[in-house]
Amino acid sequence: MPTIKNILKAARLIKKGELVVFPTETVYGLGANALNTKAIKQIFLAKGRPHDNPLIIHIANKQDLYKYAINIPKITEKIIKNFWPGPLTLILNKNKIIPNIATANLKTVALRMPSNKIALKLIMKAGVPIAAPSANSFGKPSPTKAEHVLKDLKGKVKIIIKDKPSAIGLESTVLDLTTKTPTILRPGKITKNDLEKIIKKVKIYKHKKSIKEVKSPGLKYRHYKPNGKVYLFDKNFSSVDLNRKIEKLLKNNKSLAILDFEKNRIHFKNIKFFSMGKTLNSFAKNLFNNFRKCDQHNIDIILVRAVIKKDIGIAIMNRLEKAKVE
Ligand code: TXA
Ligand code: MG
Repeated sequence: MPTIKNILKAARLIKKGELVVFPTETVYGLGANALNTKAIKQIFLAKGRPHDNPLIIHIANKQDLYKYAINIPKITEKIIKNFWPGPLTLILNKNKIIPNIATANLKTVALRMPSNKIALKLIMKAGVPIAAPSANSFGKPSPTKAEHVLKDLKGKVKIIIKDKPSAIGLESTVLDLTTKTPTILRPGKITKNDLEKIIKKVKIYKHKKSIKEVKSPGLKYRHYKPNGKVYLFDKNFSSVDLNRKIEKLLKNNKSLAILDFEKNRIHFKNIKFFSMGKTLNSFAKNLFNNFRKCDQHNIDIILVRAVIKKDIGIAIMNRLEKAKVE
């Protein structure tokens, strides 16, 4: 439980080089002292994460950005004024005080100031920046509840600080500020539209499979995958359309689940329905939890309703495109 006493205990462990899982407004993070190479190694080990995938460094004070990045473009100040603390990660040129292992030997560093109060308190009390990827095993959906973390990392971390389910439920927007025009590398709650209200122009990076060089190493890995096969169905599908799709997919005694808005709830025998709530925001918040529920119920086929590519719908579709079968 996130009592002050426990947060202080967790902060002491971070300082000592141990791993601590903490809540953020996006997803739970697996944290270690970002200035301690040995501690960071433990993160990669616990997650089974490839070493070429860099970590996000979490800070509790906007001005700390100037400690860990160099050659910071002018627009950065405007951006952090408007979006920090919050679900926005900034890619900037790295100060050498950050160990190379944290950034997978890149010349750049990812920095984020989360808004979750427990996260902020932990970072403040630890007195060091905290490197943290999402606290799932590599390849699994990001954890939005402490229970998800326990399932993936039990025995591998000293402390899991439990909070309510993550408010947003999808990982932060990653914005590269080292390119001439700022570039979104990973869509999240904060959209191109949101950013363009503050800064002139923002690009969205399109990863082409044919291109060897990857801008954000995390993009080349398949994330967010439940055990079952994920299929998307059109956002305008009627229940008749959906029935046809189910009949086509459902052979050989396979188990099937539908992930859809509450208003489209269906009651079919032998088919599970997991609700995404009423809005795009609730859809985002429920997505990874429902993927994990499918795994718990040994679902073979997961049918998910596609959503409109608007607001957080852009990030939702980005995660769904990665989760679905080719
Ligand atoms: O919401 C979040 O961002 C969560 C919470 C815990 O803060 N963290 C998270 O971390 O999602 P992770 O490690 O699962 O994803 C980090 C992403 C990866 O796609 C990684 O490639 C990218 O950020 N990234 C990190 N450093 C980078 C860099 N220097 N340049 C480009 N991309 C970078
Ligand atoms: Mg992750």
